Amino acid sequence: MRIILVGYGVVGKGVTTILSRRYTEKNKNFGFNPKVVAVADVDGAVINPQGLSPDKLEEIKQGGYPISADPEFGCPGIKALNVIKEVEAEVVVEITPVNIKTAEPAMSHIVQAFKTGKHVVTTNKGPLALAMPALTELAQYNNVYFRFSGTVGGGTPVLEFAKRCLAGDQILGIKGILNGTTNYILSEMSQNRISFQDALSTAQKLGYAEREPSMDIDGFDTACKTVILANWILGQKVTLKDVERTGIREVSLQDLDRASKLGNTIKLVGAIDDKNKPVVKPVEISKTNPLCVSGVLNAVTFQCEFAAEQTIVGRGAGGIETAGAVLRDLLDIRHKLAAKLLT
Ligand code: HSE
Repeated sequence: MRIILVGYGVVGKGVTTILSRRYTEKNKNFGFNPKVVAVADVDGAVINPQGLSPDKLEEIKQGGYPISADPEFGCPGIKALNVIKEVEAEVVVEITPVNIKTAEPAMSHIVQAFKTGKHVVTTNKGPLALAMPALTELAQYNNVYFRFSGTVGGGTPVLEFAKRCLAGDQILGIKGILNGTTNYILSEMSQNRISFQDALSTAQKLGYAEREPSMDIDGFDTACKTVILANWILGQKVTLKDVERTGIREVSLQDLDRASKLGNTIKLVGAIDDKNKPVVKPVEISKTNPLCVSGVLNAVTFQCEFAAEQTIVGRGAGGIETAGAVLRDLLDIRHKLAAKLLT
């Protein structure tokens, strides 16, 4: 399987590391032969149809150079769109930074990949939040697979859990703690009785929250993930503008104390409510509810017709964890292609 990587940040590095580890292990259970043939970044690309060495990519990055500085295979200045169009590969892995205003540049990369008959794996929530129904249709129209496991739950297989483990059941509702940063802030406020501002500063120091933390604390990140769950698991056709959204800025220590006296706490929950409306808001939940995880953990509860409530818990972020989700998606595509060949 030949892969073009678009974006080479923390997740990108995780992807090349994981793929080379699996490749050298020659693990028969995985049975696929992944080869990164191009990596495109903002400054250009590095291209080798025989496959690129992750160690060499890492060495160039460590030296403070753009990857296109590779003396042998570097192509400074070449645009990612041209790399996607011109380099022969089966899959494009799109892992550029998230942009929820325009979804660019990821949106153009994904569309270009579809148009040139390449399957796409992404961890980028932007295009999905703004245009998921249109993108899934476009993938179908072009007869390619589109996978995005790492967009919800990081390395925790939230989407696969619902789609595969609960197959045949009917999922009636979804609610989840989908953002580690806000969960950390609310947990710190409640457990250590510190203010929202102090908890936010600690989250920033620890590298959980962005310097401009609105994406997390105003609930945008949770809203994007709720959109993905609504479309992929419940078959809705919704985008970010359909989400009713409230962040955690107004949650006070007094609110948390009052909840605590009743055996509850407050969490930022993304849910698809009983009227099928995607909603993100701080919600009071019992401390004994399986959804009530603390720190940076994520948890999602699926309300099912037969299996009743099923909750999956795990880390919702992290470079290597999210890269693991990319590997799962690549394997899924590989299995689907193999099954197609058999029929
Ligand atoms: N900023 C997100 C979080 C991780 O705090 O959960 C990326 O989705």
